[in-house]
Amino acid sequence: MAPKDPRQTKFVLDESRIPRAWYNIAADLPVPPSPPLHPGTGQPIGPDDLAPLFPMALIGQEVSSEREIEIPDPVRDAYRLYRPSPLYRAHRLERVLDTPAHIYYKYEGVSPAGSHKPNTAIPQAFYNQQEGVKRLATETGAGQWGSALAFAGALFGLEVKVYMVRASYDQKPYRRILMETYGAEVVASPSLSTGYGRRVLGDTPDSPGSLGIAISEAVEDAASRDDTKYALGSVLNHVLLHQTVIGQEAIEQMGMAGESPDIVIACTGGGSNFAGLTFPFLGRNFRDGATHRVIAVEPEAAPSLTRGVYAYDFGDTGKMTPLVKMHTLGSDFVPEPIHAGGLRYHGMAPLVSLLKDHGDIEARSVHQRASFEAGVMFARAEGILPAPEPSHAIRAAIDEALVAKEAGEERVILFNLCGHGHFDLSAYERYLAGTLEDYEYPAEKVDAALAALPSVGGRRVDAASRLLEMRAPALYGHGARIAVCGRTTLSTLRRVPRRRATRPRPTGDAAPPEPAGRSRPAQGEGAPGR
Ligand SMILES: Cc1ncc(COP(=O)(O)O)c(C=O)c1O
Repeated sequence: MAPKDPRQTKFVLDESRIPRAWYNIAADLPVPPSPPLHPGTGQPIGPDDLAPLFPMALIGQEVSSEREIEIPDPVRDAYRLYRPSPLYRAHRLERVLDTPAHIYYKYEGVSPAGSHKPNTAIPQAFYNQQEGVKRLATETGAGQWGSALAFAGALFGLEVKVYMVRASYDQKPYRRILMETYGAEVVASPSLSTGYGRRVLGDTPDSPGSLGIAISEAVEDAASRDDTKYALGSVLNHVLLHQTVIGQEAIEQMGMAGESPDIVIACTGGGSNFAGLTFPFLGRNFRDGATHRVIAVEPEAAPSLTRGVYAYDFGDTGKMTPLVKMHTLGSDFVPEPIHAGGLRYHGMAPLVSLLKDHGDIEARSVHQRASFEAGVMFARAEGILPAPEPSHAIRAAIDEALVAKEAGEERVILFNLCGHGHFDLSAYERYLAGTLEDYEYPAEKVDAALAALPSVGGRRVDAASRLLEMRAPALYGHGARIAVCGRTTLSTLRRVPRRRATRPRPTGDAAPPEPAGRSRPAQGEGAPGR
C-alpha cells in the first residue's frame, strides 16, 4: 500500500523487526555451487581444513544449505545498536535528475563503524568468542571492515590485529585512528609483521598493497598462532549470509512504500554488500517468479565480474587460501590505488560469480571520476556523503534513472548506500580539485596475472608457488605439506602423517616435520605504522 503522504522520505522499522534469521541463498540456487578445493590435491576441502582459521559455527554456515539460519540473541542485541537501518526515497535526487523513476536507497552508513560491515563482524566476533578464541587477525581495504571488526572485537572482548592495505593506510589516517580507538592494532600491508609481507616488501618496497596481499598476511598471522583465528570481511558464503539482514529489511520497507523494485543495484568489491541487499530479492526471483533486475557495479580498475575469467583461483595474493571458483583477474593482480579501497580486489565471491555466470545478475564497471561525480551529485541532493564504494552503485542508479527518463517510464530503482564517506574527504578534495585520475583497464597486468592462474586436476598448481613455503601447514588439516623449491608442482606435494604437523618457516626448502602445534613467527619489529 502506498504511504499516505507521497513525500514520505524515510521508511523506518521498529527494533522488533530486526530479522530473526539470515537468508541462505544456497537453498534456492538454480545450479549447485562448485566446492572450494585444496590447492595441492585439487580435492574439495573439508571442515577440518578450515578449522585453524575459522570457528566451527562459521564453517557450518559456510557449507549449509538451510534456507534460514537463526540469528543468535546476543547478535540481534548488538544489531539493535543500529538496525534496522533506514530506507530512503531519494525525492530530491529524482527532482535533480527530472526523472519519472522512483529511487530508493538502503542506508547502511548508520552503523557505528559507518558501513554494512558490522552486520558480519558482530556474528563473527560472537562465534569466535563462544569457541574460546582470544584474538582475530584480518585485512582491511577501505578501513571500513577493519573498523567494523575492531568495533565487534570491543563488544565481545577480543583482541584484533588489522593489516590495512598500504594505499588506504596512507589515504585514510582517521580510519586507522578509529580502529585503534576501538582497541585494535593496525599495520600497513605489506608489513614487516609476516613472512609474506616481508617478502613482498623485499620485491616491491613501495608496494601500494592490495586486499589480496593483506589477506595473505592476516591468514598467515592467524594460522601461525593458537590463540588467533582469521576473519574475512567479504567473499565467503557465511559473510554474504550475514549481510542478508539488509535485503530482508529492504523488502519489508519497500512494502511500506507500496512499491517493488524493478532494478536492485549494489557495488561489488568482494560481493558482500551486493549479496546482502540483492540475495533476498533474488530468492524471490528463484522461488516466486519475481523479476527484479539485479546489477553489480565494480571499478574499471578491478573489473573482475565484467572482464575476469570464471575459474578456480586463490583468494589471496600469497596463495595461502583454498582455491575457489570465481570471477578473477588473477591473484597476482594488484589494482591501481583507486580511492574505493574496498573494491580493489582481484576476485569476487563465488556465490556472486556463480549467479553472474548463470545469467541471473548483470554487471558493469565504472571509472572512479564518474563514480565521484555521482557521489557529489548525490551528496548535494540528499545530504549524505557516500563512501567511494557505493558511489559506484549511485552512478548506476543515476544512469538507470536517466534511461527511465528517456523511456518515459516510472521505474523503481533501489540501491545499497553501504557506507558513508566521512573518512574519505581527502579523496573528495582531490576530486573537487580536479586531480583525481582514472585508470584505464590494465589489460597487460591482468593478462600476466591470469597466466599464473592455478590449474586444477593434476596439472601444475601455479607459477608463484614458491610462496607456499610460508603456508602454515595447519591450514590444510595438519597433514598436507608443500615441499618448495623455486617453482612448486603437484608432484612435490607430500602428505605427512596426521599427528606430525610442521611449523611454518620464513625461508628455506622443505622444512622437516616437527611436533604438532603452531608457533608464532617473528612479529612486527619496526612494522610500519606502529
Ligand atoms: C563501504 C564499503 N562498500 C563496499 C565495500 C566492498 O566490499 P563488499 O563488496 O564485500 O561489500 C567495502 C569494503 O571494504 C566497503 O567498505
